[in-house]
Amino acid sequence: MNRPAASLYHDIPLPGITVRGNLFLAPLAGFTDPPFRSICLEQGASMCWSEMVSAEAAARGSEKTEALMRRAENEENLVIQIFLSHYSQALRALPVILSYRPALIDINCGCPVPKVVKTGAGSALMLRPDDMADIVKTLTEASPAAVSVKFRSGWDHDSISFLSFAQKAQEAGASLLTLHPRTRSQGYSGRADWSLTAQLVQNSDVPVIGSGDADSPERVKQMLEETGAHGVMIGRGAVGNPFIFEQSKLLLTGSSYTAPDAEMLLKTIIRHLDAAIADAGEKKACREMRKHVCAYTKGLPRSAALRHDLVHAETRQEYLEILQKSPVFANLDQFSLQ
Ligand SMILES: Cc1cc2nc3c(=O)[nH]c(=O)nc-3n(C[C@H](O)[C@H](O)[C@H](O)COP(=O)(O)O)c2cc1C
Repeated sequence: MNRPAASLYHDIPLPGITVRGNLFLAPLAGFTDPPFRSICLEQGASMCWSEMVSAEAAARGSEKTEALMRRAENEENLVIQIFLSHYSQALRALPVILSYRPALIDINCGCPVPKVVKTGAGSALMLRPDDMADIVKTLTEASPAAVSVKFRSGWDHDSISFLSFAQKAQEAGASLLTLHPRTRSQGYSGRADWSLTAQLVQNSDVPVIGSGDADSPERVKQMLEETGAHGVMIGRGAVGNPFIFEQSKLLLTGSSYTAPDAEMLLKTIIRHLDAAIADAGEKKACREMRKHVCAYTKGLPRSAALRHDLVHAETRQEYLEILQKSPVFANLDQFSLQ
């Protein structure tokens, strides 16, 4: 599907919804929970993928899984990504999934982790395109939500199958495709091969989102220009830097952007911490937030001590004290730290 020659930043129509904008937060297990999604939406993300949830666990009513499917307060269009190996699991999980009213259900066909692959889910579905198609067809027929598929270029170097895989997904009813153009064997090594994304765009009748190595506003723009993709998914580049969405939007619409100053960074960290506490309670949130605050402050001058101290932070108050005494935020008015 060729994208009309227009602005690189644009809406994407899907069955039942029009997505405002084309910059998406990628699903990242361990990261894209409701609090982080809410921060990314606030910073300009068009829509955010949940981290992958097990369809089996959802069907069982697992509390941990349900926490991942919850809608963030500012999340208009919820995207729930599931991993599964057979359509029967989709049917069992569907009532629970639909109770969260997702706008989109995405099927994970890319996860390379052995624990997932050995169950026949994730990238193992790339070896069984008929099973993937059955899952898409089942969900499309039984659910009011749009259905999409996220996949890799193939299982390994000798089985590059993304074009036929995408064709099957579309025939089964998928209304959006996301390609991470690395094979399962590559994991996350090497570079994502954007030329494959360009090939998929040329051969697809539904919108295509590109994923892989769009880790700065310039790289987001370059991916859109080089591939013709309808949208970009940002994963690792958004961890510790949710500002990338608004910055990319500015660049794509012909404006310049600036890096967040220390005050904005601090306010964002505290809002993220508070959203995490509201979502999971203080103890769990303070543990979960360590990796995020490490990412927020990575590379900043004189920030190493802050990250070292955070390893022991158990409460909101301890976070505030550690942030307050760090030279990274030293010259800020103390009003931010309430
Ligand atoms: C820590 C981590 C967790 C991930 N979890 C998921 C996941 O749950 N579902 C999925 O489809 N992809 C997952 N991915 C893949 C990303 O969504 C994305 O396709 C990949 O990281 C390439 O994009 P990036 O270079 O922007 O990170 C994960 C990647 C990482 C690094």
